[in-house]
This record gives sequence, structure tokens and C-alpha cells, in this order.
Amino acid sequence: MKKVQFTETVLRDANQSLIATRMAYDEFAEILKTIDRAGYYSVECWGGATFDSCLRFLNEDPWERLRNIKAAMPNTKLQMLLRGQNLLGYKHYPDDVVKKFVERSIANGIDIIRIFDALNDTRNIKVAVEETVKNGAIASGAISYTTSPVHTLENYVSIVKEMAQMGVSTICIKDMAGVMSPKECYDLVAAIKDAVDLPVVLHTHMTTGLGFMTYLKGIEAGADVIDTAVSAFSGGTSQPSTEAMNHVLTQYGYETGLDTSVVKEVNDFFKPMKQKDLESGLLDPRVMGTDSDALNYKVPGGMLSNLVSQLKQQNAIDRFEEVLEEVPQVREDLGYPPLVTPMSQMVGVQAATNVLLGERYKSIGKEVKAYLRGEYGRAPGKVNEELQKKVLGDEQPITGRFADTLEPIFDKTKEEQKEICRCDEDVLSYIAFPQVAEKFLRDRMAAEENRCDYTIEQID
Ligand code: CO
Repeated sequence: MKKVQFTETVLRDANQSLIATRMAYDEFAEILKTIDRAGYYSVECWGGATFDSCLRFLNEDPWERLRNIKAAMPNTKLQMLLRGQNLLGYKHYPDDVVKKFVERSIANGIDIIRIFDALNDTRNIKVAVEETVKNGAIASGAISYTTSPVHTLENYVSIVKEMAQMGVSTICIKDMAGVMSPKECYDLVAAIKDAVDLPVVLHTHMTTGLGFMTYLKGIEAGADVIDTAVSAFSGGTSQPSTEAMNHVLTQYGYETGLDTSVVKEVNDFFKPMKQKDLESGLLDPRVMGTDSDALNYKVPGGMLSNLVSQLKQQNAIDRFEEVLEEVPQVREDLGYPPLVTPMSQMVGVQAATNVLLGERYKSIGKEVKAYLRGEYGRAPGKVNEELQKKVLGDEQPITGRFADTLEPIFDKTKEEQKEICRCDEDVLSYIAFPQVAEKFLRDRMAAEENRCDYTIEQID
């Protein structure tokens, strides 16, 4: 029997794409044991924006969240999303930090690390991939999918071959904007299957409404795993629904391994949460619809919901359409980067700045400047030379791997922050988000004077 497996995203990507990653551990803790029985290939539950959100908004230790999920779901592979050399942050970290982060993620319960680089610059995923393999976890090499004059099948296939050489166990096509069409997916999966002997995982969003068709064609071409969300948290800027895909694939004779009655229990649990989030305004109906404009703008789900909330805060939500229209121009000027973190934020903020100030590049973001200096890696295409000149002057952009210019910082930071950091995980939280983590760690110290420290050994 033909086999297709599912990765459930409700705890990470659906949560991130629909409700800005505000789902607290206590809100979903109760359902974890049920999810563990559903028969998923894996559950994506950590990484991406969850780490930042735990510390910044939810007053949660992200590492503790991971250990708790692991304890409640011993039978399911836990998966995280890692932005290569950016880890879970927005800039490149030195190799010692990348290695330590990967090692501690696995020690705390992660089984699969999906690793991507926003520019598909493979130099930026190599250290994380090798460290994942070394620590016995599954490294999934992800290509950030986009369409542009410089993103060709040949280009993607050569990236995939490099990933295979690095030792990844699976290849993921990560279509964060939901712009991959069924035909594009079919052709790309077929080309990858032709080039390497590795399972292919599909990741898309329903933003433009193509998702179900795209998955079906991708599976026809040989894809092995798909990312879906239980229906209450599916659709719109989130993933295609788990139940719908399972229903269709089962009819076509695929073995999915899912227990539909358990998946229903999971969905029944999340239904009232969705209703509550709609009522509170956390879930904006705008992100639940189908928007084919994204086929032009290439704007991923998380970026859409972030833009909406940023413009609302600035009382400028009426400029939303204009900002969306500015996005492709900024993207072209930057050499067609795929719009995924951190490029999505950089391009989104720059597009909003251009529109709100009424003049293109009157003010240029710090990160965009760093990008033009080469601090994020190789741009996929040519950047606007005039813009680059405006930022760099006579300075030459970096062409080597940026992390090679960074000094190790883990041991030094551990020593400097020993007052607030009680374990290596705390040090990593601090390095990832210094101000936010410092506040979190100090508050925790004040609140938990008498609490015993955990030991990792108790979890497995
Ligand atoms: Co996604």
C-alpha cells in the first residue's frame, strides 16, 4: 500500500500563522496525550516563533515547554523549525552557539530539526545540520520555496544535492507563503526524487487556496510526508486541514497511519479555543480567508498577520493594501529573497516604512543595511546597486560566510550571566533574546526562590 504520513502543526505553525504564536502551554497541555495517540509522523511543536513568544509574551520557559511536551508525548516524534545560522532569532550567531543550541534542543526532547536558510544559502545550514546528525536526531533540509526569475528547478535541485551531501535524512519543500501551485509542486518533487534518494516533506499554507491541490499533486509525484493542521486551526494563513487530506488520501488508497477518531478528539479540543480567540480578536477573520493576491505578493501567513497587527498599532490599517503592493518592489531590490523569517520581517517593515513615509528608502532599516552588507549570506539574485551603494558607500560587501567573522560567545556569556542563568538552556535563551530573556530569568528568580532545579535525565 502506498504510504503518506502527516506532521501536525497546530502547536507551532498554525499557532504562529493564525494567532501570532500566543497559545500558552496551559491552554493545550491537556490534549497532548491524545495527540500522542493519533498516529502522526511527527508533531511540530517548537522552534520558529514559539521560543521568542514564550519568553516575550507568555512568561514561559521555552525549554520547560519542550520538556513538558516530551513527557506528555513519548510516542511521537517532536519536530522543531530552525533558521540555520539564525537559530530562532533574526541575525547570525557564531558556530559555538549554533552547536550548543542544536545539542540542547535534542537533549530536551526534539527528534526532528527542520533546518532552512532564508536565502537558501547552504553555507548557513551546514553547521546546524551536521550537529543534528552528530547528536542522533533527524535533520530535515528545507528549501525556502518562492518563485522569481532566479528561482529555477535546476537551482532548487542543486541546493537539494548539497543538502544530501551534508547528511540530511529528508528534504522539505517549505512554501511559507502558500504560493506553490500544484504543477510547480509536482515538477519540483519529481525533480528532487530524480536527483536524490530521500523522503520529501511538503509544507504549505492555505493563504492562496492552492494548498490541497498542491499536496495532492506533490503526493502523486512521490512526496512522503505533508504538514497539516487539525481543521479548527487550519485554512487561511495556516496549513491545509489534517482531516480533509486524510479523507481524500484514504479514498485514493494511501495508508496514512492516522486514527480518525483520535484526530476528531484533538479537533474537538481546539474548536472552543478558536471561538474564544475569534471573540477576543486574537484571531482576525482577515487571516482565515483565501487571498489570491498573495500569488503576486508572495507574503507568508505569519507576515500577513504581523503586518495587520503592526499597522493596526500605528492606526494605519487603511494602508494595508498599499504596503502589500510595495512588498514585491522591495523584494526585487533585495535580489528576490524568499519571504521567510527574517527576510519577511525585513521586507515587510521596509515596505511599510516606504509607504508610511511616502518615499522609497527615505529611511532604511538596520537589518536591511546588514543584509546589503552580506551579513545574511548570498542574495539569490542581483540586489539594486544604487540602493546598495547608498548603504555601503565605498565599503565592499562580505562574500564569505558571515559566521566565520564571529567570535565564540557561549562560554563568555555563561560566565558573565551566571547570576541569572542556572543552566546552559538559560544561557541560550539569553543569547537568543538578551533583554527579553533577562527580564524573564530575573522574574523567575524572584518568583521561584525555593523551586528545585529539573534534571534532564528525568525526562526520557
Ligand atoms: Co510555515
